[in-house]
Amino acid sequence: MHPNANRSADMVVADEENWIDLCAFGDVIEGESIRVEHGDLSVAVFNLAGKIYVIDDLCTHGPGSLSEGYIDGETVECDFHGGAFNICTGAVAAAPCTEPARTYAVSVEDGRIRIDPDRRAQV
Ligand code: FES
Repeated sequence: MHPNANRSADMVVADEENWIDLCAFGDVIEGESIRVEHGDLSVAVFNLAGKIYVIDDLCTHGPGSLSEGYIDGETVECDFHGGAFNICTGAVAAAPCTEPARTYAVSVEDGRIRIDPDRRAQV
C-alpha cells in the first residue's frame, strides 16, 4: 500500500520528490505575477494579498501569457483577446475562453515557492 493511501484527498500533501522549486517568495510582488519555466512547465505565479497561486502561463484560448495579463482581484484577464480566469480556481471568468486554466498545488516554505505538478490547487 502506498504510504499516502490513507490521507484525505483534499489535503495538499505530496511525496517530497514531487515538489518543484519555482522561485523565492520575494520574487513575486504582491498584486503582481511572474512567469517561471521549469522543464516543460511554464507557469504564472501570482501573489494575491500575500497568498501564492500558480496556474499554467499559457492561456487555454491561444498564445496569450497569463503572467502578462491584467490582474483584477482574483481574476486575470488575458491581454490577447480579453478572456479571463479565476486565479485561485482556474475557472473561466470571461469569454472567449471556454477551457479552465490548469492550477497547481502550492507550498511556500522557508521563503521558497514550490508546486506539485501532479496536484491541482485545493480551493
Ligand atoms: S489567447 Fe487568451 S483570450 Fe485568446
